Amino acid sequence: MLEIKDLTIQYGSAAPAVAHFNLSMQPGEILAIVGESGSGKTSVIRAVMGLLPHSGFAARGDILFEGRSILSLNEEELRILCGTQISMIFQDSGMMINPIRRIGPQYVEYIRMHEASTKKQAYGKAVHMLGQMRLPDSDNIMESYPFQLSGGMRQRVGIAMAMTFQPKLLLADEPTSALDVTTQAQIVRQMMELRQRYHTSIILVTHNLGVAAYMADRILVMKNGLIVDEGTREQILRRPQDEYTKGLLAAVPVLEGEMYVS
Ligand SMILES: Nc1ncnc2c1ncn2[C@@H]1O[C@H](COP(=O)(O)OP(=O)(O)O)[C@@H](O)[C@H]1O
Ligand SMILES: [Mg+2]
Repeated sequence: MLEIKDLTIQYGSAAPAVAHFNLSMQPGEILAIVGESGSGKTSVIRAVMGLLPHSGFAARGDILFEGRSILSLNEEELRILCGTQISMIFQDSGMMINPIRRIGPQYVEYIRMHEASTKKQAYGKAVHMLGQMRLPDSDNIMESYPFQLSGGMRQRVGIAMAMTFQPKLLLADEPTSALDVTTQAQIVRQMMELRQRYHTSIILVTHNLGVAAYMADRILVMKNGLIVDEGTREQILRRPQDEYTKGLLAAVPVLEGEMYVS
């Protein structure tokens, strides 16, 4: 479904931020990319979304989504793809939700940008999606400004929006990092349900190996723009190949022999 071949990402004339990145993903698979800040995680998923910042570009390699090169799509083709086939959630949904507008109008606008529906139909769809994310009192949420919601609720609104068109691939950049531990666990569980309900593939970017261990089928470890370790969850947790992964693992709290999400 997604294949990244020998991708190198550069910003301006600086040394590559990501180099020789390879990845192959099946439908319904959850892949975690872990690594410390600055290792290139966000660059990789922004490239998949065709959303690198202005100075950023793919200097080498290719990204194929269902056999089609994302790097060769024009703006209009990208706009159609993003939101319907591939969508993204962020650390605090900040990129998706405008902080100074009520949720309702922007959600309705977002839906109508991607499909021909009346405002009323779009409103209904939005309320339905909020309900799917188990947000109580959806109508009230539609009336709210983002700052009136808790971080966890905002994040669920972000996930609801991202899932509106049942994309095949969800890119989640540190989706739980801004949340307290309890809320983190709820969001993680809800993301797991997305795969069950919609068969969504997920790329989860996190610096938290505990979250990755809980959610992912496969884990990929990055450091300084390179993949330093890669394997099934079991392989990475039981037999980390790289010293760096061992260090990350040692930092994950263990509770009664099980690593837990924190
Ligand atoms: N907008 C940008 N402009 C210039 N360089 C950037 C930009 N974003 C990221 N980089 C470079 O890419 C590296 C990797 O960043 P990033 O992909 O955000 O890593 P991560 O998500 O793992 O923290 C950074 O250390 C920085 O050098
Ligand atoms: Mg990042």
